[in-house]
Formats: sequence, C-alpha cells, structure tokens
Amino acid sequence: MEIRFANAATPKSGALVLPVYDGRTLTEAGRAVDTATGGALVRAMEHSRFEGRKDQQLAVVAPAGLPVSRVLLVGVGKAAEASAERFQALGGIACAALNAAGDKEGTILIDAAEGLSLALAEAAADAAFGAKLRSYRFDKYRTTEKPEKKPTLTRLTVAATAAAKRAYAAREAVADGVFLARDLVSEPGNVLYPETFADAAKALKKDGVSVEVLDEKALRKLGMGALLGVAQGSARPPRVVVMQWDGGRKGEAPVAFVGKGVTFDTGGISLKPGPGMEDMKWDMAGAAVVVGLMRALARREAAVNAVGVVALVENMPDGNAQRPGDIVTSMSGQTIEVHNTDAEGRLILADACWYTQDRFRPKAMIDLATLTGAIIIALGDHHAGLFSNNDELSQQLAAAGTAGGERLWRLPLTDYYDKQIDSDAADVKNIAGNRNAGSIIGAQFIQRFVNKVPWAHLDIAGVTWSKSDAAITPKGATAFGLRLLDRLVAEHYEGK
Ligand code: BES
Ligand code: MN
Ligand code: ZN
Repeated sequence: MEIRFANAATPKSGALVLPVYDGRTLTEAGRAVDTATGGALVRAMEHSRFEGRKDQQLAVVAPAGLPVSRVLLVGVGKAAEASAERFQALGGIACAALNAAGDKEGTILIDAAEGLSLALAEAAADAAFGAKLRSYRFDKYRTTEKPEKKPTLTRLTVAATAAAKRAYAAREAVADGVFLARDLVSEPGNVLYPETFADAAKALKKDGVSVEVLDEKALRKLGMGALLGVAQGSARPPRVVVMQWDGGRKGEAPVAFVGKGVTFDTGGISLKPGPGMEDMKWDMAGAAVVVGLMRALARREAAVNAVGVVALVENMPDGNAQRPGDIVTSMSGQTIEVHNTDAEGRLILADACWYTQDRFRPKAMIDLATLTGAIIIALGDHHAGLFSNNDELSQQLAAAGTAGGERLWRLPLTDYYDKQIDSDAADVKNIAGNRNAGSIIGAQFIQRFVNKVPWAHLDIAGVTWSKSDAAITPKGATAFGLRLLDRLVAEHYEGK
C-alpha cells in the first residue's frame, strides 16, 4: 500500500474517510460532504448508534452527489482529548475497513476541528502511520490464498498540509522498523535461527548502523558461560549481534537496548508441554524489537548514540544439552546453578546485559524479553511488565508507552524476592524454590548482572503476539515496545 499526501480536496473516486467527533460532530470538510450528498451523512448517523465515539465507524455507501465508493465515518471521541493514539487508530480502522470493502483507493481527509488537542499536521501524520502499521502482512509462505482474501487497497491519500508529510517521514522510519521486527518474529524456527537472524541484522549496515557479529568462539573468549550453556543443546550455534547508531555527539555515552533472542524455546531438558509450543518461535521478539528500533533510529537519523545488543540462541533438548543442576560461570564471574533449563532467557540476558554495560558504559540500559508465562497471568495482553532500578527511567518509559498505546505496568524489585534466588551450590540459581511471583523472580535474576547503570527490564511475553486484529496491529506479531522506545529516545535522549 502506497501512502501519499495531497492538498485537502474531496476525491474524484475511491473511498473517503472522515473523522467525526463526539456528539456526531463533523468537521467543516465533513459538513461540506454532507451538503454535497444531500444530507446523507447526518441522516446515516441519525439512523444508527454511531455517535463519533472513539473507534466507532459507519460507512455511507455510494452516496448520491459525490463520485466516491463510500464515505467512511470514523469516531475520534472528544476533540479536546484526542491523542496520537486516536488518530493512529483512525488510520488503522480505515485501512482495514477499506480493504474489507474491496476499495482500491482511499482518501483520509483531516481538517480543523474545534478544540482539537493536537496539531492538525501531527493528527494527519498519525492517521497515515496507523494505516501503514495496520497494512502489515506476513504472507510469504501462503501459496494458495484466495484473491478475495487479499488486500485491495493499493493507494491511500492523506489530504493534509506539507507539514503533515514532513511529520510523517519520521513515523515512516519507525514503521520500517516495526515491519522488520514483525517479519523476524513471524519467521518460523527452521528459517530463523541465530546465524540467519544475525544475517538479517547485517542488513542494517545499509541504514548506516555498524553491525558486529560475535560467533561462538568470540563468546567463549568473552566468558559468556551462561549464554553458551543454553546454546549447547542445539545444532545451531549461538550469536550475539552488536549494533551501533552514532547519531549523537562523538564520545557521548549511548543509550543501550538488549534483546532476548531465543529463536526457538523447547524448554530444553526441562521440556515444555506440546500444546502451544509452536508459539515459542516468537521467543526472540525482544531481539527483533531491538533490531527494528535500531533501523528506526537510523532511518529517521535520530540525534542520539544508541547501542543494540541481541543474544541469539536456540534452546533444545539433546545429548549435549545443559542439565538441571548444572553450574555455569557467567561473564560477570558469578556462578549460576541452573535449576530449570526452561528459564533460559534470563541466562542469556545475564551475559548480554553484563557485556553491554561493561563495554559501553551506557547512560541507561533497557532489556526486552518474552521472559515469563507468569507476566501473562498477571497482566494479560494489555500491559507489559516493567521492572527497574530507577524511578525516573521507569516513569519516562511508562509515560512514553501510554502516549502511544503501548502500556507498561511496574512491578517491584526488592531484597525479599532477591534472596529467593540464592543458591546452595553456586552464587545464584535461575529460579526460586516455588512458582510465586515468577516474573519478579526473573527480573531479580537479571538485576544480579546489572551494576549501577539505570536499567529497566520489559517483560513482553503477553503483548508480543496478538490473537486478534487490533486498530494498528493485525493479528500476529506486534513489535510491542519499539514505538515506545523510539518515543523515549526522542523525548529524553536526543540532542542531549
Ligand atoms: N519463553 C518463555 C516464556 C513465555 C511463555 C513466553 C509463554 C511467551 C509465552 C520462558 O523462557 C520460559 O519458559 N519461562 C518459564 C520460566 C519458569 C521455568 C521459571 C515460564 O514462564 O514458565
Ligand atoms: Mn523457556
Ligand atoms: Zn524463553
């Protein structure tokens, strides 16, 4: 789907999409369309439950007086409370509705509205962004899809000012990152494994990102025993990829992102049950989001120094696999007793986080991981878990998430939980003695490998894969966290 911007005018063909505010309030352009159609819009609203509330939609098909296929009214709610999220949703809803109706072309017309809480150019750019994000498809392995199931919308015009087009450029870079992350998450484990994931990350060189791939030998030399222990049961050797975007001042400490990249998680010798195990192809979503974020920052030429580190392993049961009870030595020097080989994400992050803070001395370090099933029990699919040693970073992350509709909820880290991972045989064990507070225990484990650096851990296990369509995320891989981290960088690290 091509997105373009043009001066505001009612289109000569295709579908027309108009925002409607609370109380069935049309914009000026909307009122003009209503007049041109002999009052068809107002009549349609009066004969339906459509009131312009957020996410409501109403199609007026082939209205007399206008050469359009349909006028799609999309509710935005109260103008004074409209946010970026609302206009993104408008774009996403329009994209899905026009495809469902079989339209080939559409125009979104966003003009001034009384009391609107954000700049018009931003609203229009967000609508385009939402439509773009919703248009994502992963269909490379479908060879027999019926034509009527395929998307029809090939061109979406956003009728808005040149300022909107400029505002969209940065969002398009973010969308590129989101699409890359979703592609990686969607690939199956037989196609995407540590080596092929690392190859995919190398494509970022074209964006101006420097990419280093550490192979098994290099990881051994660095002493990453925790990561190597997880990897040893797989025929696929591990990789760590280090990406650097130097858009900030020379010598300025970077902000660092670390991703869990378990390309398939069987649980290892602590084998997972069969049903649903196919989901574990997306146990590398944290890493995918880090790669996508690096692309986004590079493509929008963010004025920041950013580092992305992804730890890539496959967790398999095998004659050479790590056993429960094994003791490994992490890069930090701390020894770890592995009580459960299915708690592998924290093991690879222990080494990846240690390496990142040790080598780069970042201003802040944020890791993303599909770490625990327990976070799904706690928060479901509406919030990701947030853990941090720093109140300010924590607050900034939560605010950035809320602004763009990627919600975080902070959970505690305390000595009480920490002591539960003391081991009798080594410095630390990778699970507690019971299943209580499983997500917190996982975060406490990672924290043992984090020094004084402001650090946050996002447990994205519940929000990474969506079972149903949502406004700006078709079902499947969401790339949750990417937009919020991009916003965090823009608001708190760029140009500083
Ligand atoms: N990758 C899983 C967590 C997960 C579960 C993500 C379901 C997405 C959906 C992780 O490696 C894992 O297996 N965690 C264990 C930890 C336990 C052994 C302490 C879990 O959550 O059961
Ligand atoms: Mn696991
Ligand atoms: Zn896992």
